[in-house]
Amino acid sequence: MLDKKCIAIDGPAGAGKSTVAKLVAQALNFLYIDTGAMYRAITLKALRQNLDLQDEESLTQLAKDSIIKLVPGSQQRVLLDDEDVTEEIRSPEVTGQVSTVAKIAGVREVMVQRQREMAQETSVVMDGRDIGTVVLPDANAKFFLTASAEERANRRARELRAKGYQIDIEQLTKEIKERDYMDSNRAVSPLVPADDAITIDSTGMTIEEVVATIIDMVEKGK
Ligand code: CDP
Ligand code: CDP
Repeated sequence: MLDKKCIAIDGPAGAGKSTVAKLVAQALNFLYIDTGAMYRAITLKALRQNLDLQDEESLTQLAKDSIIKLVPGSQQRVLLDDEDVTEEIRSPEVTGQVSTVAKIAGVREVMVQRQREMAQETSVVMDGRDIGTVVLPDANAKFFLTASAEERANRRARELRAKGYQIDIEQLTKEIKERDYMDSNRAVSPLVPADDAITIDSTGMTIEEVVATIIDMVEKGK
């Protein structure tokens, strides 16, 4: 495809990246790629195998040996070595450990290469932490989506309560801040806005407003 395009959406946890990226992809008929799901899948596998999460060599090898597929659809399914792990990768256990795994340089190298390959094939909206800075530095449009930590925790709490989890909002806010801190302060590909990213603070904005803002900017060639 000659006129292939890519849109990068980065930002902290609970900013609305995946919800918004999915809708933007639908509206533009692009493929949505959730890169966080890939780090979560590797983390799930490492936890199941009781691996030492500080053991960079074993985790890098695990990433190399794993086949992660993102199956497009109204709800994107995540396959880990052909097993559907879509729900399991969102568990509190995986969420609590994923940033420890995602800071390993070798793991990131494997993931970034696969993400770039996916973006070679078709037009994509990709969301994550390092898409605009590392994975797709030449993206046609880059967005850094954020919101206050309190609002992000409230959004996540609503979502988790709907799934039946008991939520302590203070604890959840603390966990979100800790994960953001780890993601923003790691040595390799930290979470930072790309120099040419447009920052959207979605505090107080509806999902529809954020989607419309992004599509408008993409259409204006921003
Ligand atoms: O949905 P949520 O914002 O909670 O997280 P996610 O997008 O599923 O990403 C989970 C974790 O994976 C993040 O906290 C990062 O540690 C890591 N991640 C990353 O390092 N780089 C990416 N491109 C995407 C995710
Ligand atoms: O992918 P990320 O962690 O950035 O966030 P998400 O999983 O897309 O969004 C977290 C929650 O916030 C979801 O339940 C969304 O429906 C909700 N949300 C919202 O209430 N208002 C927005 N403007 C964006 C997302």
